[in-house]
Amino acid sequence: MNSEHDSALQARMTLPQFPRSAKYDPQWMLDNEMGPNAVWLTEWLCEVMDLKPGMRVLDLGCGKAMSSIFLAREFGVQVWAADLWIAATENRERIEAAGLADQIFPLNTEAHALPFADKFFDAVISVDAYHYFGTDDLYLSYLVNFLKPGAQMGIVIPSLMQPLQYPLPDYFTRSWEDQSVFWDPRECGSFHTCDWWKEHWEKTDLVTIEQADTQPEGWKHWLLLEEIKTDRNMLRFGEAEREALKADQGRYFGFIRLAGSLRRDIPEPWRMP
Ligand SMILES: C[S@@+](CC[C@H](N)C(=O)[O-])C[C@H]1O[C@@H](n2cnc3c(N)ncnc32)[C@H](O)[C@@H]1O
Repeated sequence: MNSEHDSALQARMTLPQFPRSAKYDPQWMLDNEMGPNAVWLTEWLCEVMDLKPGMRVLDLGCGKAMSSIFLAREFGVQVWAADLWIAATENRERIEAAGLADQIFPLNTEAHALPFADKFFDAVISVDAYHYFGTDDLYLSYLVNFLKPGAQMGIVIPSLMQPLQYPLPDYFTRSWEDQSVFWDPRECGSFHTCDWWKEHWEKTDLVTIEQADTQPEGWKHWLLLEEIKTDRNMLRFGEAEREALKADQGRYFGFIRLAGSLRRDIPEPWRMP
């Protein structure tokens, strides 16, 4: 890539809302993205969290660990970078390349079989991943076992901006020229509204919710990344996602963040037999 190209990419990926992210190499963000930019989304989440140096943070569903690297670098926290699909060794290499091997600990784990001691973490975050496992009504009460009383909790997830109305718009199910379909129920079937997620946590009575909101223009950031990937021949799943976002114009698709803290007086860790 020549330097002219470099600076054009830098300009496209520099969003005024995310000044910390602007310091990160845009090619690195593209090479490691598994969702519509974990670095931007993590910065947005951290606006409503209060992470302090030395805290132990679980980054659940960290993918290629860009969010973990961002957390360690920006806030000086220690991060356990946990993921199912991405090998821990691959993440270790990325973490070492970032010079953060003493601060970030990669591991492969399934979100329902976390290998940690009870009350270990000061905070848990999850970026573009919690909807793969966290819609289970019993999941939050399992996850909190690993958190200290009062620990911070924050997630960002692709979501619905309003409840679905039927019939669904044709761009949900249309097969695009390359035969890809965006609204694959195996991927998008766990998209919900902000109110849904808020209630999903609130009803457990385990968490005090401090923030539950949608990202302004989130769909535009998502589309921007799809367009940048298109221009650079980096689309992994075909053009359906890009075309559906364009057709949708933020009516249904975007991001929400949910942040809060674990109540201090919850019962002792409890697991189903
Ligand atoms: C769309 S990717 C996002 C990865 C990364 N957070 C990012 O934003 O680039 C979703 C991630 O969730 C993780 N994931 C899905 N189901 C999981 C499970 N049951 N346990 C642990 N991680 C899971 C996958 O391994 C994957 O890396």
